[in-house]
Amino acid sequence: MLEASIKEITENFESETTPLISVLHKVQAKLGYLSEEVLELVAKYLDLPLSKVYGVATFYTLLDTEEKGENIIRVCESAPCHVKGSTNVLTEVKERLGIDIGETTEDNKFSLELTSCLGVCGVAPAIMINDRVYGNLTANKLETVLKKY
Ligand code: FES
Repeated sequence: MLEASIKEITENFESETTPLISVLHKVQAKLGYLSEEVLELVAKYLDLPLSKVYGVATFYTLLDTEEKGENIIRVCESAPCHVKGSTNVLTEVKERLGIDIGETTEDNKFSLELTSCLGVCGVAPAIMINDRVYGNLTANKLETVLKKY
């Protein structure tokens, strides 16, 4: 099942035109995260060195090599968000969920991470939950956003 899924995704990979990162995104979307076993299979089917696949998987913050919660909260830590109060947002998220950066809640509902600029500096401070971005965050707005999950 696992091997069949990876084989199917990598079959569409053309090393000339499709970056490895796109393949890894597709595999992650289907399987949840990129375990060591998954990375080995990707390397096998793409006929690439495992070190190259592992290097890309661990370099990009949007790729996960460890099992995460159902929802991943990424708090932007780049300068514009920092100036607009991302530290307060981060503290608020930590307190509400009772977890630190890199941790997952006991009920496996949320994982917390930092990220660099999300490209929405005009509405700083911003966070991303899964693939959705929320800006102009305040403590009240954060509460409303978290309730959606
Ligand atoms: S610095 Fe946070 S979105 Fe750009």
